[in-house]
Amino acid sequence: MTRRQFVSSALSLPGALTPVATPNRCERRFRFFVWNDMHVRAQGVAGRPPGYPCAEEKARWALECALGLHDIEPPDFVVSAGDIIDGELEDFDQDFRHLRTAILDRLPVPFLPCLGNHENAQGEGIEGRTDAYDCCFGPGRRNYAFACGGVAFLVLDTSGAHRQPDDVTRARNALARRALERIGNMPVFLLTHVPLIPMRDEAVLKESFGFSSYKVLDAGLLDVVEAHSEAVVAVLTGHLHLTAAVTRRGVAHITSGGTCGYPADFVSLDVFDDRVDVAMHRAPERWLDRGGDIHGFPRYDHDYTDASHLGHEEYVWGNPDERTLSIRLERAKRPRGTGPAGLQALRVE
Ligand SMILES: [Fe+2]
Repeated sequence: MTRRQFVSSALSLPGALTPVATPNRCERRFRFFVWNDMHVRAQGVAGRPPGYPCAEEKARWALECALGLHDIEPPDFVVSAGDIIDGELEDFDQDFRHLRTAILDRLPVPFLPCLGNHENAQGEGIEGRTDAYDCCFGPGRRNYAFACGGVAFLVLDTSGAHRQPDDVTRARNALARRALERIGNMPVFLLTHVPLIPMRDEAVLKESFGFSSYKVLDAGLLDVVEAHSEAVVAVLTGHLHLTAAVTRRGVAHITSGGTCGYPADFVSLDVFDDRVDVAMHRAPERWLDRGGDIHGFPRYDHDYTDASHLGHEEYVWGNPDERTLSIRLERAKRPRGTGPAGLQALRVE
């Protein structure tokens, strides 16, 4: 599939779309990046606490990688896993406007957003909280689905991950169930901000992350995903500010640390007929500031580790097999057909 086919997509997407030459793709169907936890923020907002060190520089580095610089092959599109802006200010529009000017308007491929808790003040299901996000990305970008190359992508809002089961989470779970049934016979990537399972030893992660939303607390969404485990290839998330990969009941759960802090990663995924190759990309050393580590010093007086990550570097960056991995695609997880051109919107309701 060529990039020109991507830009002729039937899915209406924001941002400039400029076709460029595409290298030989062999049997690969497409390549995409997941961006999360960039936490970019408008400059000069009075009274705001300091942001993550070098967050803007690292976001620009990720943009440059999407432009094909830094020896990284550019993607066909970029999907968010949330918290692209820092938010948590009175006027979220300011950060979204900065994001559009500094990053998205310069991105030559489609960008598919996903709500993070910093983009609506943990406001899943709360009237008015998501207005600025909607204004930036347009309607229909909270919970939606699209397809590419015979593979479906379901994007879900878990900005209310801290909620115990209630009407909001039950509505989320019901929507996911209907969407997966409607998607039917295509393999699926689920994009959502908060992991559905503990990505480190649970008791340790609860402490080191320090917020109740270290996973989606209503397990109903995980139940829905696992009921469709024959088709769900991977759950792609962010939020934890650490990089991890865990396979549970045949579903890969992959989270990238995001670019804002320490670690500073984004992830690329190359989708082939028989596998998905996953690679974490580490930001340049000069912007790796331990001041952005939320799982150790200086936030705490010690650095966290767990039984499978005996050093703190491994705890936050992941073991080698969490940073580069290949997911085998068999039976219902194999892409369908020869793959439609470009991105296509799918109905989720
Ligand atoms: Fe978050």
